[in-house]
Parts: sequence; structure tokens; C-alpha cells
Amino acid sequence: GTLIMSQATARAHSNIALIKYWGKRAGPRNLPAVGSISVTLGALYTDTTVVFDDTLSADCAQLDDKPADTARLTPFLDLVRARAGIDTRASIVSANNFPTGAGLASSASGFAALSLAATRAAGLELDARELSILSRQGSGSAARSIFGGFAEMHRGTRDDGSDAFAEPMLEPEDWPVEIVVAITDTATKSVNSSIGMSHLDERSDYYQAWVDHSESDLAAMRDAIAARDFETVGALTEMSCLKLHGLMMSTRPGLIYWNPATVAAMHAVRSLREAGTPVYFTIDAGPQVKALCAPGHGEAVARELADVPGVLETRRTALGPAARVIA
Ligand code: PMV
Repeated sequence: GTLIMSQATARAHSNIALIKYWGKRAGPRNLPAVGSISVTLGALYTDTTVVFDDTLSADCAQLDDKPADTARLTPFLDLVRARAGIDTRASIVSANNFPTGAGLASSASGFAALSLAATRAAGLELDARELSILSRQGSGSAARSIFGGFAEMHRGTRDDGSDAFAEPMLEPEDWPVEIVVAITDTATKSVNSSIGMSHLDERSDYYQAWVDHSESDLAAMRDAIAARDFETVGALTEMSCLKLHGLMMSTRPGLIYWNPATVAAMHAVRSLREAGTPVYFTIDAGPQVKALCAPGHGEAVARELADVPGVLETRRTALGPAARVIA
């Protein structure tokens, strides 16, 4: 079938994992080797418009006003087209309200917004779980950006991926923690997450230990979130971050995502904590430091991190809402 012209626009927010996802199961459909738990960020989002247009002979895409590569987008749109029973090509126009590709999780908000906009434009009405499953196939972390507040991504066990989806844990107002992002470098990261985490079983002696301890880390985090126990949530968050980076460093060839300012910001967070501020750090596959702050402490943390040598910019954010259609 074809769609002569049909469009939708969606907004999805970025998220950061407190218990990290890293590593894939063998086979297709981008199946994670471990579950993860994240918070969705209110101030960082992607707006994406998808137009199915029967006059197009190929998909085309624009990101932040520049032409974008469709190599990862066409196979993703093919999933939507197969489901809708159409073969119409699409035009994608996407904009982040934050620097793209600099470790601020643009693939998470990007694929979540694309899933929602593309399915709506194709005439489909997927529920949140189905959207999460679809988003996962674009980027593992995107499965969590379908939801607001705190979310948990399930590893699942089925080969078809039907049980590898995220679910909401808490709404933003249930526990209004804050996040401060300290940007230490705005260049695009050198090793993207898909490459960094491929075939880890053959590339890191630490990988099996990472997988083996994942369930107990997730269980401890679930309990701490349910109890609103900020110190335990924070301690588990730093532990999962450092364990992830230990795994990355142990991979052949070793991945080092930190720069000197990243390390300085980590120490600054710990100094603040020793002086009584409830704040803990986490870092993804890039040099930015994200500080998890107890409710009401974001402003003071942002002020301190802005003064750390090498920190270029800080962004403070509350938790954000679920992905939604905006036009
Ligand atoms: O969604 P991906 O494939 O870009 O992987 C995300 C990996 C981390 O950001 C490092 C961890 C996470 O759980 O988000």
C-alpha cells in the first residue's frame, strides 16, 4: 500500500541510566544483555516530524537543520512500514534542544520521538509498551524514553524481543530529584555505544561478571527507589557508573570516555557530598558528568560544577514526562 501524504510530530525526552545498560544478546532485534533503570530529563528533548510522501523515491532526513545519514533510519522505518502494510518513503525532520552526539543521549530521545511520530504518521496507534519495543530496535536506551520519571528496562528472555521493553516506575512528581549535566566537551564522541558494546564476551574478561551481577544491582535499585532512599539510590548509581567504565576500560581495545574535566567533576561531586550536599555522579559513553541531586539541591550543585576547571557549561533539569504527539 501507499500513503499519499500523512504526517505527525512527536516530542521525546532524553534519559540517563542510574543502573546502566551495556552489552547485547546475540542475534537480531537489538536485545540487551542486562536490564537498566533510568530517569527521564525534562529539559533535554527531541522533536521529530515524519511525513510519509508517495512522491519520495527514498527516505530522507534532516537533523538540526543539516542533512542526516539514513543508514540507521531506513531499516528502522522499514519496521514501521512492515507493520502498517505500506511501502511509502518518508521525510524525517528532527531537532534536539541540546548538543547532538555529545553524550547527552540524543539517540534515546531521537529514536523514541521517531517511533512515536513514524507510527502515528503511518496510521498506527501503538500502546506505550509496543512503542518501547519498537524504540529499542533503534537504540537500547530509547526504549526508556517512551516513559517519564523513573523507568525500568527489562532485559527479557525471548528471542523475539517481545519481553524486552521499559516500564514506568515513578512519575516525576512522585520523587522530584534533579539532574545537573556538566558539559566538558561538545565534540562528537569517538566510539559510539553500538560499536563499544559489540561482542563484549570476546573482548572483555570482566563482561561475564557485569552480566552476573546485573540482576542484584537492579533489585537493590528497585528497593531503594520504592523507599525514596536517596543515599542508597545515589550510591548504587555511582557504583553502576564506575563498574560500567571499568568494563569499558577492560575492553580490547580499551575505551576511555573521560577527559581531565570529567574526573575533576567526579571529585567535585564527592567533595560536595562530604560537605553535606546529597549529590552523586553518573557518566555514559562520553565525557559529560551528570549529577543526581536530591530534591531542592540542583541549583547549588550547578553553581559548584560550573566552577570546575574544564567544565564548559552546566544544565539543570527536573524529571521529564513521557513521549507524546505534539502535532
Ligand atoms: O542506547 P545505546 O545503544 O546508545 O546505549 C546506551 C548506553 C549507555 O548510555 C552508556 C548506558 C545506558 O543505559 O543508557
